[in-house]
Amino acid sequence: MNIKDYKFAGKKAIVRVDFNVPLNENGQITDITDDTRIRGALPTLKLILEQGGALIIMSHMGKPKGKVNPKLSLAQIKDAVAEKLGVPVQFAPDCAKAKAQADALKPGEVLLLENLRYYPEEEGKPVGIDKEDPAYDAAKKAMKESQKEFAKTLASYADCYVMDAFGTAHRRHASTAVIADYFDADNKMLGLLMEKEVQAVDNVLSNIKRPFVAIMGGSKVSTKIGIIENLLGKVDKLILCGGMTYTFSKAHGGEIGESIVELDKLDVALGVEEMAKKNGVELVLGEDSVCCTGYDFGTFSVKPGAEIKVFPSNAIEKGWDGLDAGPVSREKFAKAIEGAKTILWNGPAGCFECDDFCAGSRAVGEAVAKATEEGAFSLIGGGDSVACVHKFGLEDKVSYISTGGGALLEAIEGKVLPGVAAIKG
Ligand code: 3PG
Repeated sequence: MNIKDYKFAGKKAIVRVDFNVPLNENGQITDITDDTRIRGALPTLKLILEQGGALIIMSHMGKPKGKVNPKLSLAQIKDAVAEKLGVPVQFAPDCAKAKAQADALKPGEVLLLENLRYYPEEEGKPVGIDKEDPAYDAAKKAMKESQKEFAKTLASYADCYVMDAFGTAHRRHASTAVIADYFDADNKMLGLLMEKEVQAVDNVLSNIKRPFVAIMGGSKVSTKIGIIENLLGKVDKLILCGGMTYTFSKAHGGEIGESIVELDKLDVALGVEEMAKKNGVELVLGEDSVCCTGYDFGTFSVKPGAEIKVFPSNAIEKGWDGLDAGPVSREKFAKAIEGAKTILWNGPAGCFECDDFCAGSRAVGEAVAKATEEGAFSLIGGGDSVACVHKFGLEDKVSYISTGGGALLEAIEGKVLPGVAAIKG
């Protein structure tokens, strides 16, 4: 069913959202950029209420591992949700015992369920038993049955199910996928945020306008290798920046000082270069780096007395740590992005949290914004690159900012997301 065709009037809708937003010690959302996921779900929630439907909102928060943890209670965001929706929000303190509250809901009313992951059935993984234990398989089977029961209970609250949690769509959990089995095709659908996210991914995977430039940053090749390999079959240019630069430098025998490196992935780096060559993809790597003799990764600051200097990325002296793209690299990245018609950016080009080392990410962000202004479709995903976009005030200058972290990466790797498959089959 397409959400735009569904008649919500007089119906109860159970909507899976991803309200896994960072909170501070006082249970407050830490800053405005962090409520992106709540704002992202509003169009779906408001559509249902405006049509005269009643809303049951469900989400996880953090990883309570099947146990009640007040620090991860969704009660903490109830008022923020009410304020954004513009209507009062009731709260169900036990998501699996909310039938009476759901039944009592009238059109236009909203019920927020407590953290789904207080129940191990949500994730469906057996707890307290090791994978090596001979009884593990039986425990897993039993848990899968309990998971179905849990999903069925959630389904019993509503007439229809809306999946709008893109950030969690890569999980095959009770509320993101299994629950869909308890609704017929006419009464289950993707929400408006999911549709936008799926469309954005499709724009960079199938509906590609060329040249297609992908920018992959971040510290490790190992966590990005799946997506890099998939992109090498699609892009015209691939910019690899951030900490992974030094694994590539090292693979060619470069001196990288104290910079981050994955010594067991040097062959993977060479394999990426080989594959790029074979596929005719221009691989763009930084040539120089802004380095420091004492950076505090905990506080994102330069330690007192530490020095900052630019080195070639393959000739960094001992005692120096490469933390950002240098001026030559920045120009190279900007030039590679110029004229692109499809852009994907995941991962920063340096330790952007510190103003001394954010120039590389800023150069990438500004080049992406410029290309977008000239007609490119740009998709930004992953917490750090989204944070960069906010830091440099570019949020209105890119085409789409995804709410997905792991989910976006899996989608771009070409994997079918269980949350989408549960609806679309
Ligand atoms: C996220 O923050 O990426 C999503 O909410 C998914 O969370 P998870 O990795 O704990 O499943």
